Amino acid sequence: MSVDQLVAHVSECSITKYAIYGALLVGVFKLTFLALNTLALIFDLFILPPVDFKKYGAKKGNWAVVTGASDGIGKEYALQLAAKGLNIVLISRTQSKLELIAADITSKYKVEVKIIAFDASTDDVSNYEAISQVIADLPVTVLVNNVGQSHSIPVPFLETEDKELRDIITINNTATLKITQVVAPIIAATVSKSNKKTRGLILTMGSFGGLLPTPYLATYSGSKAFLQAWSAALAGELKPQGIDVELIVSYLVTSAMSKIRKTSLAIPNPKQFVKSTLRGIGRRNGAQERYATNTPYWAHAIMHFAIDQTVGVYSKIANKLNFDMHKSIRVRALKRAARLASEKKE
Ligand SMILES: NC(=O)c1ccc[n+]([C@@H]2O[C@H](COP(=O)([O-])OP(=O)(O)OC[C@H]3O[C@@H](n4cnc5c(N)ncnc54)[C@H](OP(=O)(O)O)[C@@H]3O)[C@@H](O)[C@H]2O)c1
Repeated sequence: MSVDQLVAHVSECSITKYAIYGALLVGVFKLTFLALNTLALIFDLFILPPVDFKKYGAKKGNWAVVTGASDGIGKEYALQLAAKGLNIVLISRTQSKLELIAADITSKYKVEVKIIAFDASTDDVSNYEAISQVIADLPVTVLVNNVGQSHSIPVPFLETEDKELRDIITINNTATLKITQVVAPIIAATVSKSNKKTRGLILTMGSFGGLLPTPYLATYSGSKAFLQAWSAALAGELKPQGIDVELIVSYLVTSAMSKIRKTSLAIPNPKQFVKSTLRGIGRRNGAQERYATNTPYWAHAIMHFAIDQTVGVYSKIANKLNFDMHKSIRVRALKRAARLASEKKE
């Protein structure tokens, strides 16, 4: 071996050595990170005690505003926040359903309830004025932006009807932003009057449909992804004012919207879902990689965590699996619609 060859060999060896050390270091760093995230997930989901809602004004005469409160998840938010000792403003489309829930809440929990009925898809200024008038003098500390609409069945984006497309964006995004612009200043004033002894809380319902780009639910998926970025940005803005802002991420829950009636390991009912949400406010649960975001239900949390730690939410493989799932849901929904139509004819 010549001197030149020897020098080349030695330097090649040290490059290989440093490359191996570097790779080991990165591996140790990644494994440590994974171990810490897994520990945080376990603590958040199963070990830490439930959050005490006194810090958000429960049992002190404060109010929570809940949208989409006449059914499903929103109705449960209203019931469980009332059970914790908050007065409730119920907002939704159907006056008669709101009246029934208001009566149920007042008789069960001895708190005050106010109701506001409007169709959020109209984006009418009178909708927001109605909220403003009702809450102007109330010490509101909590807002739950729950109202939302999805596609009636999975549908190719290019075949999405104009009304469905516009309603999804108007209800999920425009109305949510406008309602927050009306309610958040009242929450800020309440928190400020308490010298920040009481905190404010703004929860917004996200979805796995927004976490993972979802073919055949493209408009809904985009509307919920919008809420993810908006809510996390707002969290940064309102933190200094003593208001916690959180996006709540959910996979399927039994409800009119999901059209699923039977619970399973991965599909809770609204009661179970909301219980886990309110238990773990301020924690990330399955959303360990995201600021001001919470995937609270244990099975959803593990799914979120596993996807994030493996293929990633924006990967080709996640997109393909999601597409296949929604293609098959569409086929079944179309078959069902055809069957119902033929039964109607007979
Ligand atoms: N269920 C799931 O699997 C699931 C999964 C992930 C995320 N989410 C999100 O969770 C939230 C609640 O969903 P859900 O399944 O509980 O829905 P749901 O059972 O269909 O209830 C929807 C609620 O919103 C109200 N609402 C609907 N359209 C409205 C409009 N145009 N104007 C005013 N109010 C309106 C309904 O009022 P009426 O009773 O008067 O119709 C009802 O109170 C949504 O944001 C949804 O995207 C749900």
